[in-house]
Amino acid sequence: MKLFIDSADPREIRDGLAQGLVDGVTTNPSLLSAVAGASGRAPRDVLREICDLVKGPVNAEVVANDVEGMLREGRELARLASNVVVKFPLTTEGLSAVRVFAAEGIRTNVTLCFDPVQALLAAKAGASYVSPFVGRLDDIAIDGMDLVRKIIAIYRTYQFKTEVLVASVRNPNHLVDAALAGAQVATVPFAVLRNLIKHPLTDAGLGKFTADWHKLQH
Ligand code: E4P
Repeated sequence: MKLFIDSADPREIRDGLAQGLVDGVTTNPSLLSAVAGASGRAPRDVLREICDLVKGPVNAEVVANDVEGMLREGRELARLASNVVVKFPLTTEGLSAVRVFAAEGIRTNVTLCFDPVQALLAAKAGASYVSPFVGRLDDIAIDGMDLVRKIIAIYRTYQFKTEVLVASVRNPNHLVDAALAGAQVATVPFAVLRNLIKHPLTDAGLGKFTADWHKLQH
């Protein structure tokens, strides 16, 4: 399973890369505007820097709502770097734009997916990735991982090539469940990513081994 970092902050991305945990990046307008706003940089400049840092896919989202605007913005984003994947929302307009880009060979990610039937439509439109948001469903007491399992079952039945990119990940259990379900990708916020390796019993065990070893030395 590929691990993406869900961040538009180049410092977090560098840190994740240094730990060998980043196969790709997902950004969204909220994440990118926060970083651009705080640093006084243009959002496109931030995206360019991220594309230079990461070899794998960098997902960048359009903000237009109409097909023409989405296509224009999507083409601008795709021109930033060869590793850009253009994110479109799961709307009628978004899927129209996905169809155009699929025909042109531009990679797309259909985002804000909350229902298996939406994911079916995204795959039929030719999306490269679909992003079910598990955390936001869990927030409203709907099992987000159930959505992931249903999407994977549908895609397997019909052999769709669209990859399932589990998004809105809030904790390590989401990641384990995504892996057990067979999702191709999970995108994880930095705060969760950096803690994935930690376990209190690992720390306690290491402390004891080190203490016992030093007893021998003395
Ligand atoms: C994915 O592409 C989105 O950026 C992201 O996972 C949204 O997560 P959130 O629900 O924590 O905002």
